[in-house]
Amino acid sequence: MKIAIGCDHTGTALKEALKTYLDSRMIPYEDFGTFTEESSDYPRTAEKVCKAILSGGFDRGILICGTGVGMSIAANKFNGIRAVVCSEPYSAILARRHNNANVLCLGARVVAGGLATLICEGWLNAAFEGGRHQRRIDIITRIEQRNSPPGFSQADEVNANEEPSSASDSTDEPKPNQDTQPLSPSGGA
Ligand code: RB5
Repeated sequence: MKIAIGCDHTGTALKEALKTYLDSRMIPYEDFGTFTEESSDYPRTAEKVCKAILSGGFDRGILICGTGVGMSIAANKFNGIRAVVCSEPYSAILARRHNNANVLCLGARVVAGGLATLICEGWLNAAFEGGRHQRRIDIITRIEQRNSPPGFSQADEVNANEEPSSASDSTDEPKPNQDTQPLSPSGGA
């Protein structure tokens, strides 16, 4: 099993902790960034990781942002990606057994390294049960197909680098203290 892993600026430390765990289990992975704590846009990393999975080079992905929510929303825009955000192991295990989730999203501002590792471990070890759960995933796949525009190919999407706006836009500048109070209800940059 080969893992594609990525994060935004909130998740660099947790990503390193999970890479240490993957190393300890000798599970191969590739890190798709980001690599600094400079404010970055989570959908760009989600896109890189999801395209890497859909290209066939990776079996599963791990995405980390502040809450895991933004990453899961972005990842689930890709047909064939089943991303879940989990804050405890039970949901992560069932997300494999019942939902065949191929991307695990974690919130670096929600779960610390020890719990995140347990969530990750449960998700990595659990196996898809198939049967009635496969039937339900087949329904999801047909929903994806019915709702894709005719002729649309995700491979044709514009390169993320060509898109307007970025984390450096003046309207999106981090406000003072946002990142020094990561557990405040408003989050941070
Ligand atoms: C960044 O402040 C934060 O919005 C992002 O990491 C993520 O939590 C979005 O869902």
